[in-house]
Amino acid sequence: MKTLILGANSAIAKAVAEILAGKGEELYLASRNYEETERFASHLRVKYGVKTYADRFDAMDYDSHGPFFRKVLKEMGEIDRVLIAFGYLGDQERAVRDFSEARRIIEINYLGAVSILTHIVPYMEERGKGTIAAISSVAGDRGRGSNFTYGSAKGALSIYLSGLRNRLYRKGVRVVTIKPGFVATPMTAHLDLPKRLVSKPERVARDIVMAIEKGKDEVYTPGYWRFIMWVIKAIPEPIFKRLNLR
Ligand SMILES: NC(=O)c1ccc[n+]([C@@H]2O[C@H](COP(=O)([O-])OP(=O)(O)OC[C@H]3O[C@@H](n4cnc5c(N)ncnc54)[C@H](OP(=O)(O)O)[C@@H]3O)[C@@H](O)[C@H]2O)c1
Repeated sequence: MKTLILGANSAIAKAVAEILAGKGEELYLASRNYEETERFASHLRVKYGVKTYADRFDAMDYDSHGPFFRKVLKEMGEIDRVLIAFGYLGDQERAVRDFSEARRIIEINYLGAVSILTHIVPYMEERGKGTIAAISSVAGDRGRGSNFTYGSAKGALSIYLSGLRNRLYRKGVRVVTIKPGFVATPMTAHLDLPKRLVSKPERVARDIVMAIEKGKDEVYTPGYWRFIMWVIKAIPEPIFKRLNLR
């Protein structure tokens, strides 16, 4: 199998890449910080003896996405799977007052994914098989005071993926929406989260690989987040607005 991972420097993406490399998969890793991506790609090459590529990819540099994807295809020959892992939590307090921060959050989490997918989708459609997976978030299931700009971008991503799944199902292409709960990564390192609800990236990565391999539609990871979000979504708005949820 040949997998393209976008935002490959993310802690969750790295844990996924370790599992896939352990299975002998060929990986094309791309992220903004090229030096780190190249270092990690060579670590996988040495540890697992697999073929890996490292490249630069910036979700906000929309004009580069077409040439980037053509280069990926030229080097890999073909792609079976794509994992979109990049994301940006941002500063909610700033995003309420400063449009440049709000825009950055929306661009990285939503528009960046939509932009690269406009190149990936026609390829997958024509090929008639393959899997597109993207990491959304439980934050996209309901707006919360602490992170609603990020949550709204992830919510938009989840809806986009749902429609894409609907479109591509009959063409043999699977679309997997991944909704992690709290994960201990650089993204959340500064937050005071309830420890019992925080998972390790390796735990979440196992669920992601399983979901991609099985071509699942939507996974909450760890699985108990499906129940938590079911409860959170069921709380009536007049009560919900009085709660101070993270
Ligand atoms: N941690 C959580 O609790 C949690 C919960 C739900 C969902 N998620 C989602 O899980 C995914 C992985 O995040 P993580 O938790 O593993 O955090 P992370 O380690 O901080 O990874 C985020 C990655 O996003 C990349 N990125 C940021 N802006 C980018 C851009 N403009 N273009 C390309 N890449 C960009 C960064 O790449 P560079 O290093 O190259 O800059 C960074 O490696 C994200 O989509 C996140 O929203 C995380």
